Amino acid sequence: MPLSVVILAAGQGKRIKSDLPKVLQPLAGEPLLQHVIRTARALAPDHIYVVYGHGGEAVQKAFARDADLEWVLQAEQLGTGHAVMQAMCAIPEDHTVLVLYGDVPLIRPACLKQLVSAADLGALALLTVNLDEASGYGRIVRGADGRVAAIVEHKDASPEQLQIREANSGLMAAPAGRLEEWLLGLGRTNAQREYYLTDVVAGAVKAGNPIAAIPVPTALEVMGVNDRIQLAQVEAGHRRLRTEELMLAGATLADPLRVDVRGDVTVEQDVFIDVNAVFIGQVHLGKRVKIGPNCLIRNSRIGADSEINANCVIEHAVVGDNCRVGPFARLRPDTALDRDVHIGNFVEVKNAQIGVGSKANHLSYVGDTIVGSAVNIGAGTITCNYDGANKWPTVIEDGAFIGSGSMLVAPVRIGAGATIGAGSAITQSAADGKLTLTRARQITIESWTRTGKLSDSEKAAAIEAALNTPKD
Ligand code: UD1
Ligand code: CA
Repeated sequence: MPLSVVILAAGQGKRIKSDLPKVLQPLAGEPLLQHVIRTARALAPDHIYVVYGHGGEAVQKAFARDADLEWVLQAEQLGTGHAVMQAMCAIPEDHTVLVLYGDVPLIRPACLKQLVSAADLGALALLTVNLDEASGYGRIVRGADGRVAAIVEHKDASPEQLQIREANSGLMAAPAGRLEEWLLGLGRTNAQREYYLTDVVAGAVKAGNPIAAIPVPTALEVMGVNDRIQLAQVEAGHRRLRTEELMLAGATLADPLRVDVRGDVTVEQDVFIDVNAVFIGQVHLGKRVKIGPNCLIRNSRIGADSEINANCVIEHAVVGDNCRVGPFARLRPDTALDRDVHIGNFVEVKNAQIGVGSKANHLSYVGDTIVGSAVNIGAGTITCNYDGANKWPTVIEDGAFIGSGSMLVAPVRIGAGATIGAGSAITQSAADGKLTLTRARQITIESWTRTGKLSDSEKAAAIEAALNTPKD
């Protein structure tokens, strides 16, 4: 059956107490609604409708680049049933409709597929959840025959009904034509004077339509966000679901509570991740990769057997196989390390390709640079890529050795097998296989003696003289 997903996102979310609409509150660094949209897309639906209202402009603006979303205005928030109704005129009768909530972000596609399958067969499919503490939720009321008879909202429930632990997650799926009929039958004679989506159950029962109550595999998945306490709980839930996925894929986590996955992280077998790792965006870790404590890795790939030591920041970079990075290294965008590369402490690399087996182990800046294989970049080497207005490239060919404390003033080429003497400022290309250096000759000044400790007045006089005497 063709599928139309309707995401309800028009509520104000008063209890969040924020200028930002509730569905734009961040979860793992992205708006709540973004998570729901991603899950909806995973079902490959024909349409995704987002019902917006409160703070609507901000919500639409946040997703302006997502051309696949169809926006439906609910000008007045008259309830969840009314919200779904706004989208129904756009949806053909032969579609299956899946209703998602913008403030229920942890739902996973597998569980939604079950709902959709049941609705494809004609049922009104409800996603239910068994809760010890179901306060605030609608309750599933079953008849003497055990069949679902109605959903009663918390505020409308009798004391006996409040004892029911089978709760309504709010997410449901149904054949569009029938759903529309049941929606048209809704009234608002209830505690909140709203058109309740949940009242379609009564309509379906009356019409003798089958109702499928499908329990969610983990209650976490249907946790809703109404205030900032629940937002923190959902953040913790998100962390748990994502870290469990990593562990099931073959990664050992020193402490799953201290790893944050904010995006799509994939791992191969026998990866080890130490505490306080933060992964953002698209990150891939190859086999046996080790991530040390306190690393931030964003939109990057780390090759098999590579070790990222403590306190590294790696963004938009590719690290090849069997590399050693850090501790305290920074790989900035468009860095590509080939295999067996070593990047050590306090080394910053930006827009640079570094060839097989090359090393920059201490205190360097390598930017806008192509480095060949088996190059050694000595401590304190800087590629001076910026002249105050333009950026220039540096090329360091295979087997070159750059002595410590060298400034390579770009654009400049260091030839294959060249050696640069320590402390050089290289402004012209250096020949292959030769020693090149630019260094003042070392001298010893025989007449010089060290000054002893001066009195305050001697010091003042010396300063006065120095500041007022023009230098030659
Ligand atoms: C709803 C369900 C309840 C369920 C609970 C689970 C109804 C009547 N009740 O209650 O059975 O247990 O979710 O979390 O459906 N929204 C609109 N327009 C509106 C009203 C709401 O778009 O006019 C959106 C909200 O932005 C939110 C979602 O619908 O994303 C749910 O609305 P909310 O008011 O939070 O419903 P609950 O009272 O939590
Ligand atoms: Ca809610």
